[in-house]
Amino acid sequence: MALKTQIANFHFDNCLMNGSGIYCSERESLAKIDQSAAGTFITKTATLEKRLGNPKPRYFKFQIGSINSFGLPNLGIDYYLDALADFQAKNPEKTYFLSVAEMSAEKIYQVLKIVQASDFPGLIELNLSCPNIAGKGQLAYDFDSTDRLLGEIFTWFNKPLGIKLPPYFDPSHFDQMAEIINKYPLVFVNAINSIGNGLVIQGQKTAIKPQHGLGGLGGSIAKPTALANVHAWFTRLRPDIAIIGTGGVSSGQDAFEHILCGASMVQVATALGHQGPDIFARISQKLESIMADYGYHDISDFRGKLQYR
Ligand code: SIN
Repeated sequence: MALKTQIANFHFDNCLMNGSGIYCSERESLAKIDQSAAGTFITKTATLEKRLGNPKPRYFKFQIGSINSFGLPNLGIDYYLDALADFQAKNPEKTYFLSVAEMSAEKIYQVLKIVQASDFPGLIELNLSCPNIAGKGQLAYDFDSTDRLLGEIFTWFNKPLGIKLPPYFDPSHFDQMAEIINKYPLVFVNAINSIGNGLVIQGQKTAIKPQHGLGGLGGSIAKPTALANVHAWFTRLRPDIAIIGTGGVSSGQDAFEHILCGASMVQVATALGHQGPDIFARISQKLESIMADYGYHDISDFRGKLQYR
């Protein structure tokens, strides 16, 4: 069993996968994740049309993390649905993830209607949390709009849907959002997207160009916030809503901690970008050895079983 996991009725041989944005913008990168030890992949967040994204430089790595403001560059929904159909034809048993987003509720409905009409049989992640679009807030920070959006979507959408959330920092926000999420037949939540609107300086200049240097923070500095969010959702959401843990994962220990907090799958983002797809084999091996040290055979032996002092 070891690293096998499940979201709704979808089974995965390995609980590790990429985070959307890393190694997933074109077929060639997706193929590398597909051939790695990862259990599956997720595409770059797809919009209705191709987008070039924000001006460069839009990514910078520093000692304890990274800052990005890519601005959702992607090749458009048709490209990713075509690519997924090809991967699926080669691996009919495998479940893949498609990430989608748009800039308004109407356009989100349009992109989801395209997905609904397609033959895509996998899991769909609606990204409600990109912090890098000038003039557009992170939708999941607007509770009423998120509630209305999901309410409308679930009157007609019937494929397995999850949402990617930004980090929250206050217990009352977790409570309010959990009440909304628990009303809908979502099959997973993914926590967290990057910690939005950080500022990194190099010399006297902002490290990245878009929005006067503001961007989403990822990598090691994001892990404590990510773990707090994963555990907050695990303790508040219906048990049939799986949690995907994302944020600060570069080692077997990081993955172990995400699962301990309640994650059924764990995404690797910043570290994957720097170390490449072999990282999945390395993290898997280390995670299995940590599990063996504790006497665990299966991730369900310790998933969500965080102990409190
Ligand atoms: C981006 O493309 O700006 C990053 C994706 C995201 O934060 O959702």
